Amino acid sequence: MNIYEAIFNRRSVRKYVMEPLDAEILEKIRKMIENTSSLDGASRVEFDIYENLNKKNQVKGLLKSEAPYYLIVYCEDTPSAYRSAGYIAEQAVLYMTTKEIGTCYLGSAKVGPKEKNGLKQFLVIAFGRAEGTLYRDMEEAHRLPLSSLCTYKDEPGEYLKKILKAARMAPSSMNTQPWRFIVYADRLYVFAKKEALPQPKMFTTMRQFDMGIMLCHIMLAAEEFWMNIETVTEEQYAKKNYKNGEYICTIIFHS
Ligand SMILES: Cc1cc2nc3c(=O)[nH]c(=O)nc-3n(C[C@H](O)[C@H](O)[C@H](O)COP(=O)(O)O)c2cc1C
Repeated sequence: MNIYEAIFNRRSVRKYVMEPLDAEILEKIRKMIENTSSLDGASRVEFDIYENLNKKNQVKGLLKSEAPYYLIVYCEDTPSAYRSAGYIAEQAVLYMTTKEIGTCYLGSAKVGPKEKNGLKQFLVIAFGRAEGTLYRDMEEAHRLPLSSLCTYKDEPGEYLKKILKAARMAPSSMNTQPWRFIVYADRLYVFAKKEALPQPKMFTTMRQFDMGIMLCHIMLAAEEFWMNIETVTEEQYAKKNYKNGEYICTIIFHS
């Protein structure tokens, strides 16, 4: 399974075998993260692997899973840093999926040091060998249909359809799937759905993180099909206050 295929077969794993992973694979995960660039090339995001094999240091927070390891995500407090964090974290999660390691994002759990190099801990990702099944068929994933996510202005080509399918599979906090797209033949306008009522900050930061995960899927699918993409922020849309969605970026597909 390659990293693109992992997009369609990964599921969140909530039960783990409390056994160590090879030191070599842990090192590969660290190296992989180190070599992954952030979404905007500027936001500060850092990661640490936290070992929990002796269960001495209890994980704190709601909806947690006991796992042998946690990948701790630290980031700056800006929307683009949360997006970058999601973008990098998902590459690590999919990489681990290809190595038969189970993962689960834990949005409200905390473990280990609260800060790293001046960056606050944002969330953790449980990982380790899965107790039970690690993969599933994509049809089993609970995801909104593309018809609910996209407004089509043009009929998308074969590869753009595949890219949208990969974007749709992105995991999100409470499976909220906040991404919405306006689809043209050569570009996507990407929006994050706004809730009707104002939401607490934790919800809006998690939404940015989710958007980063989804942008990672777009990037990996574009790479898989050798598509040349450019991500831009169009000021005229960024400045606008839309009622139902927040403009995130425009993704242009160059032929
Ligand atoms: C940012 C984020 C935070 C999440 N937080 C939790 C959590 O606290 N507890 C949990 O059990 N699952 C959590 N999840 C997992 C989602 O519930 C899960 O990805 C979603 O329901 C889709 O299921 P799937 O990953 O199996 O496809 C989180 C996912 C994301 C992306």
